[in-house]
Amino acid sequence: MNSTGTVTGVAIVGCGNISGAYFRGLQRFADLRVVACTDLDADLGRAAQERYGVSFVASVEELAARDDVDVLVNLTPPLAHESVIANLVETGKHVFTEKPLTASFATAAPLVAAARAAGVTLASAPDTFLGSAGQTARAAVDDGLVGDVIGVTAFVTHSKAELWHPNPGFLFTRGGGPALDMGPYYLAGLVNLLGPVASVYATARTGATVRPVTAPGRTVEHVEVTIPTHSSAVLEFASGVVGTVMASFDVWDHELPFLELYGTRGTLSLPDPNDYDGTVRFRPHGAESWQDLAPVISAFTAATAEASLPLRGPGVADLAESLHGSSLRVGADFALHVLETLDALALGTDGVRRDLTTTCTRPEPSKETWTQ
Ligand SMILES: NC(=O)c1ccc[n+]([C@@H]2O[C@H](COP(=O)([O-])OP(=O)(O)OC[C@H]3O[C@@H](n4cnc5c(N)ncnc54)[C@H](O)[C@@H]3O)[C@@H](O)[C@H]2O)c1
Repeated sequence: MNSTGTVTGVAIVGCGNISGAYFRGLQRFADLRVVACTDLDADLGRAAQERYGVSFVASVEELAARDDVDVLVNLTPPLAHESVIANLVETGKHVFTEKPLTASFATAAPLVAAARAAGVTLASAPDTFLGSAGQTARAAVDDGLVGDVIGVTAFVTHSKAELWHPNPGFLFTRGGGPALDMGPYYLAGLVNLLGPVASVYATARTGATVRPVTAPGRTVEHVEVTIPTHSSAVLEFASGVVGTVMASFDVWDHELPFLELYGTRGTLSLPDPNDYDGTVRFRPHGAESWQDLAPVISAFTAATAEASLPLRGPGVADLAESLHGSSLRVGADFALHVLETLDALALGTDGVRRDLTTTCTRPEPSKETWTQ
């Protein structure tokens, strides 16, 4: 329960593939109550109504008219985000959106400004860095365990969506791709650890232009690929840290790490930033082996590791907490900066180093933490 003991009412917009992880995941937070949902596909909306005991309504306007709804959670596909978020902001309710904020930095920036002008709190996934792994790594950096961080690597490899998503076309068109789909987890994780990025130099290309879909229950047999699927970049952080980042749907198998930080005292190795949990390892210079760091557990992460598909919700809880005075850690400025960086990675920077126009502050580390 938050400090004021009030319950925040939540409604879901978009009852597709990821929605179950929200409906179930949000139930873990005592001060959040999911009360309603909507979807253009009424069958999906009614199925959610039956399965999760929430009201299905036909439109966002009906959700917005409800007094028991404080926060609207956008789970529509990336290409719909721009118009859906604009619509949600107009209702005056607070908004949490799945990532990416929108399909491009150019379309996201005006929305962030519109939300601010309307007094609406706009927040965005990814929120996985609020989990134990992100917070453990953050403590290792902040406490000086790694020393001065000189460089980082991030390897965003293929999520193989053709094998599990029934209709993965949105991942292979504008708004999708490895940088915008999986990249947010890595970049949000890095900005949480190291602060904002100052500039990006990137180059990108497209692999196969048609890909077969073999997912169980698939609704399409193949997808057309209209965007780059393999990018490499050098990132310069404002702090001077130099990052090497690859994002690819063409790397099916590999022996690359997820995220590593190279410091003056040793190397920090993070687990998959798409997950909330996992072991963070540290190897001091000269040591013969890696040490598993004791995980910093936050109130948000106490119950995250209970399903094969990670349950979602910490970011919505963070937004709800912020309405009662705490610092918002998954805010729109943070997400916009991550998106500007990823946009450059996704499409390349035309052979030049691109200085970014946005910046942000590092989100606050978890306050209520304890060590397992
Ligand atoms: N699928 C995953 O595992 C996963 C994981 C993490 C994040 N995400 C993110 O979650 C979002 C949704 O992904 P998904 O895989 O669930 O997509 P999906 O296509 O399975 O579901 C999206 C749903 O939104 C509905 N919709 C579209 N426009 C709408 C509108 N204007 N109003 C109401 N409903 C509308 C669609 O009918 C559909 O049911 C994306 O931003 C994606 O990046 C997905």
